[in-house]
Amino acid sequence: MCGIVGYIGEKQAYPILIKGLKRLEYRGYDSAGVALINAHCSTYKCRGKVSDLEAEVEGKNIEGTIGLGHTRWATHGEPNDINAHPHTSMHGKFIIIHNGIIENYNRLKSKLINRGYEFKSETDTEVLANLIEYIYLKGKVNAVTAVELALSKIVGAYGLVIACVDEKDHLIAVRKGSPLVIGVGSGEYFLASDATPIVEHTKSVIYLQDNDMAVIGLNGMNLKNLNSKQSGEKKPIIHKLELDVDEIEKSGYDHYMLKEIHEQPRSISDTFRGRINPATHELKLGGLHYNMDALTNAKRIIIIACGTSYHAGLVGEYLIEEFARIPTEVEYASEFRYRDPIIYKDDVVIAISQSGETADTLAAIELAKEKGATVLGVCNVVGSSIPRSTDGGVYTHAGPEIGVASTKAFTAQVTVLTMIAMQIGQKSGSLTKQEYSDLIEELALIPDKISAILKKSDEIKAISELYQHATNALYLGRGYLYPVAMEGALKLKEISYIHAEGYPAAEMKHGPIALIDENMPVIVVATKDKSYDKIVSNIQEVKARKGIIIAIVTEGDDTISKMADHVIEVPESDFALAPLLSVIPLQLISYFIAVLRGCNVDQPRNLAKSVTVE
Ligand code: AGP
Ligand code: GLU
Repeated sequence: MCGIVGYIGEKQAYPILIKGLKRLEYRGYDSAGVALINAHCSTYKCRGKVSDLEAEVEGKNIEGTIGLGHTRWATHGEPNDINAHPHTSMHGKFIIIHNGIIENYNRLKSKLINRGYEFKSETDTEVLANLIEYIYLKGKVNAVTAVELALSKIVGAYGLVIACVDEKDHLIAVRKGSPLVIGVGSGEYFLASDATPIVEHTKSVIYLQDNDMAVIGLNGMNLKNLNSKQSGEKKPIIHKLELDVDEIEKSGYDHYMLKEIHEQPRSISDTFRGRINPATHELKLGGLHYNMDALTNAKRIIIIACGTSYHAGLVGEYLIEEFARIPTEVEYASEFRYRDPIIYKDDVVIAISQSGETADTLAAIELAKEKGATVLGVCNVVGSSIPRSTDGGVYTHAGPEIGVASTKAFTAQVTVLTMIAMQIGQKSGSLTKQEYSDLIEELALIPDKISAILKKSDEIKAISELYQHATNALYLGRGYLYPVAMEGALKLKEISYIHAEGYPAAEMKHGPIALIDENMPVIVVATKDKSYDKIVSNIQEVKARKGIIIAIVTEGDDTISKMADHVIEVPESDFALAPLLSVIPLQLISYFIAVLRGCNVDQPRNLAKSVTVE
């Protein structure tokens, strides 16, 4: 959840750490801190943003060529100066930053208290710092051994960077369940939770695997896996980053979210580029090459995901059932993993995740693997944990998504799921040649159609202005457009803090209709599709109760425009591809409303970009 950075080399560490923390601030942002491993091991930390930390550090000693930094997303203890990381052990021997949760921290804390340890913070992290120190002092072992022994007593998830004041020439980095990447420069190393702070320094990176421990010094690094039966070193595999600095900058937009909304014509083309060929009507998903038989012969497909990725999964369910005629279920990963689900060996499980690091999704994957199912991933972050733990899959190529509210990742996920459904349908014969070719052509037209919708931003902003003070909103859709309604509602509540619900339009009369009055904006996703006439009736039901209708309709619709208070037109498309278009105005509505309400769009309160805790 949080952001971790580290540096060891010959340059001054502080500016590198601060810049890195700013790049990672989208991951967690309730407090920030740095430690410079100089003569005094200067540690500074405070509640708030990285800019607050900079103000705090102003005029103080920031010397040091080794250092570590952290932006926190609190799990244990409120966000305040004391709970912020880095945490220093009681006798000052160890300084640590941590991403994740130590589940058995309470028991360990009591034991340490019995042995005379006192605690300053409420965090689980400080328990680990003190446990390492206790073992180090009591056992008279070196820092690496102390860390190893302490971790053998820990239950939980962690990405850790640890410095020992008696051994100032190296940093120790360990990963279990929370990502850590090492950037390899010339005579210097960078550490971070993801590659965004590293890319401007080096393109050579090592992705730590679970239970990997790296001891990183000026003259090189040693890597080993703490779980491996073979003792001794592991050979690091160096990957080349395919990421540019300008991809992670705002490029003139006010917010990352707005930039990412506008990037969708490109991110969707990037997602299907090299995979579909509208001229020859071909579609090929290389990452599924070895899994096509499992997919076409699957008795059932189970999609697991969280949040926005779950909504993309709901669209995927409709797509796969329509094009491939394979029964498909979609589940929240967090529910799936804890309810002892029935999984057969000939099931195919598709995990969808932008970050590729979501803890619940990863745990659900492990469960599906244990039960012998084929597990595939649809992920955006190359080299992240989910693609590394699946049997195959398809990357979404949306590029880095920094805004906490997911936008371009959603449309890229739906694009990939469309291609997967089409490919199975073509192989199994449930899609005719003509349908298949038509869909390829239609898909290729989507980016231009999105560009056309984006040109209506002013119109959408004007509508948003009217409803910026709403306290509730209802989003309705049917069929393919029902998941879009859910996604629209999630976007609004995440960034504007307006309570919103997404509902299948027909379900409205079974409950939510009671909420409708003249103050309730009802956003209806009502582009032309099979249940168009039905949704027209639902709109009338709302109007009969004086609700306000904002309708997303197909260009030229003259039925709904007569009933609705506002309409936003989107170009016509195949019904199955409509979510890719109709979600765009909903993203923009939530963006404009959040800006008008003065909310922090890119870093909404309480949220983190990548949810690496369960
Ligand atoms: C989306 O706007 C959210 N911030 C959130 O629901 C997100 O989609 C969810 O946490 C899943 O993340 P993932 O795709 O990285 O697994
Ligand atoms: N569990 C730790 C804390 O609450 C780390 C949280 C994080 O990942 O930022 O401080």
